[in-house]
Amino acid sequence: MTTNAPAVSRTLVLVKPDGVRRGLSGEILRRIEAKGYTFAAVQLVHPTRELLAEHYAEHEGKPFFEPLVEFMLSGPVLAVVAEGHGVIPGFRSLAGATDPTAAAPGTVRGDLGRGWGLKVTQNLVHGSDSEESAAREIALWFPAL
Ligand code: TYD
Ligand code: MG
Repeated sequence: MTTNAPAVSRTLVLVKPDGVRRGLSGEILRRIEAKGYTFAAVQLVHPTRELLAEHYAEHEGKPFFEPLVEFMLSGPVLAVVAEGHGVIPGFRSLAGATDPTAAAPGTVRGDLGRGWGLKVTQNLVHGSDSEESAAREIALWFPAL
């Protein structure tokens, strides 16, 4: 018998500095657990500029790159490796659209994000967008894992 069930995989979730500052880390972790995913690692990180430049390498040169890195340096980040069937697209669904103003109600960004100052940058969470990104990002944030 064949099955279409997605494979168990891992994704990198970041609760960004706005989420940590606003005390939303628990609420965000709760939603991940409530969906049925588990945690392989959770750590509060004060990222360096170098780590963030690597993490966001695909966006280097874009107009929002520098403000994004500055924002990500503005406070600690809760780095999480979440695990489960289909967790990579699954967490992206939980997170909602990049722009919190456009993100659907029921999602982290739609329910809790406000797009402060009409900017997209402060959108509470990061989630890896593919198997390749997840592997690269997990190695970057959790080199010992
Ligand atoms: P991106 O990878 O496109 O979004 P996502 O986080 O949904 O995968 O962009 C990375 C981050 O950059 C995004 O979470 C917020 C910020 N950003 C901006 O500040 N302005 C923009 O116009 C875009 C596209 C992203
Ligand atoms: Mg992205």
